[in-house]
Amino acid sequence: MPEIEEQIKEKIISLIGDLDSLPTLPHVAAQVMDLTMSSRASVRDISRILEGDPSLTSKVLKVANSAFYGLKQQVNSLELALVVLGMGEISHLIMSVSVFSAFPDIPGKETFDREKFWVHSAACGHFARILAKRLGEPMLGGEVFVGGLLHDIGKIVLDEKRHDVFTDIFNRAKDEDRSIYDVEKEVLGFTHAEVGLVLAQMWNLPISIQEAIAYHHIPEQAEKAPFTVGIVRVADLFCKAKEIGFGGDNKGFIFSEDISWLLIQKVKPELASIDIEKFTYELDDEIEKVREFINITRG
Ligand SMILES: [Fe+2]
Ligand SMILES: [Fe+2]
Repeated sequence: MPEIEEQIKEKIISLIGDLDSLPTLPHVAAQVMDLTMSSRASVRDISRILEGDPSLTSKVLKVANSAFYGLKQQVNSLELALVVLGMGEISHLIMSVSVFSAFPDIPGKETFDREKFWVHSAACGHFARILAKRLGEPMLGGEVFVGGLLHDIGKIVLDEKRHDVFTDIFNRAKDEDRSIYDVEKEVLGFTHAEVGLVLAQMWNLPISIQEAIAYHHIPEQAEKAPFTVGIVRVADLFCKAKEIGFGGDNKGFIFSEDISWLLIQKVKPELASIDIEKFTYELDDEIEKVREFINITRG
């Protein structure tokens, strides 16, 4: 499990308050996540849990049947979705859809544009999934998607808990043309990555997803899931390259020199054969699909 220094944790608590006041993962998602992590789960267990939440189930099916998800076959029932997608994938899908109800919009109390934030996050997850598939790891698609979707979640927690402080950081990053990450380190002594990790640990998320959140700015520190962390980081860079983001995070970079690129290349030499320019261009067609996902899940 990614360790978080006691001192940092104390600093986080003293800034945002009691950890018990953090948003909780919706009950159904938490139950499904626990169940799939234990090896005892059966398809029937999962459908029984979901029966209690028809609106979540209908969103999950809508996403599964959308262009965003790109299934070759329509899945009109949960049972069929479980058969076609498998339990691991369904649990990631449920997780992706549920996250949004943990963070409902609070109009007028947001430093940054939440719509843009979620498009950035979902695009990062989506690009990560496309990359994983391209590199011969389609089975990691659900995991890297959730990792991408949640990589910056600490920013929302900070904004919700300490709107005043986060507004200052956000504006300073923008004015000084620095990254939010650097300004957070300077002002707070910790960053949204650590805040996100605290939440991910509270939610009991899988280690790979915890690492994607904790190390997306320092992928070289990943221990258990360097591929997932590297892919999420590279997908984040593709978002930046395509300017799918929001203010304050516009520092320059070169893909092939980024540490995450080199880390992935170590295990997947075929990464070198990806034409970065062409791939960036191909991602244009994916943005609409990401918006469709956001519309379904936030609707
Ligand atoms: Fe970040
Ligand atoms: Fe990001």
